[in-house]
Amino acid sequence: MPDDSVHNAPTGPGCGRSCNCGRANADADGLIRDPKSNGDGVSRRSFIKTLGASAAVSSLSATSESRANALLGREVPKSAAMLIDGPEPVDVTLNINGKPLAVKVEPATTLLEALRFHLNLTGSKEICDRGACGGCSVIVDGKLVNSCMMLALDAVGAQVTTVEGLARDGKLDPVQESFVRHDGLQCGYCTPGLVMACRALLNDNPKPTLEEIKKGLSGNLCRCGTYTNIFNAALEASGQAPIMDQKMEGA
Ligand code: FES
Ligand code: FES
Repeated sequence: MPDDSVHNAPTGPGCGRSCNCGRANADADGLIRDPKSNGDGVSRRSFIKTLGASAAVSSLSATSESRANALLGREVPKSAAMLIDGPEPVDVTLNINGKPLAVKVEPATTLLEALRFHLNLTGSKEICDRGACGGCSVIVDGKLVNSCMMLALDAVGAQVTTVEGLARDGKLDPVQESFVRHDGLQCGYCTPGLVMACRALLNDNPKPTLEEIKKGLSGNLCRCGTYTNIFNAALEASGQAPIMDQKMEGA
């Protein structure tokens, strides 16, 4: 098990862990929660089941709003009821790493499944498949998202960045370079997710403190426990001294 004393962040709503990483996600019961909401949750299983049931009676809409209506038992507006997704696979286009990619997915397909099994983008890892580990982290319209907790259909129209999209013109992203320099991995299975979480953090906060880095990465688990090296990589990628140097400076 990873050393949570190193990894811990203040508790609060967010991902599946007891942290405050701020992503809309699932808790330990598989409830999808928006950190900005009043705490009402929806289980992914019941959500997807509702989608299937709704599709069977031809009331499943292509819009998130209509899916939410169906889920909550509200009346589906007539205009939306005309837009039927499923139960058969539907053709959609996803914007991944700046490219429009056509894909045929069932309505219950998660973004992670679409990436890995339909588009052969296997950088995002499936580890817990319930929003608890961050291994599947991608950036959707600038926000860090666990792709195992998002339906592919809900990503239509959004800009999705996966770990495959970070390098430009054959040059690694500075976050990737500093992970290499600081050996921020052992088995490497958590690494794509942590790189994406780190990238998203630095996009929002180019010079985070060590505490802010711990909090920003708190939705990502590394079972090999390489947190110190990962924090050092994040510090260096943001132009700051690694932890060891900081300690020596303060000594
Ligand atoms: S959070 Fe998606 S696989 Fe763990
Ligand atoms: S889980 Fe092995 S390097 Fe993080």
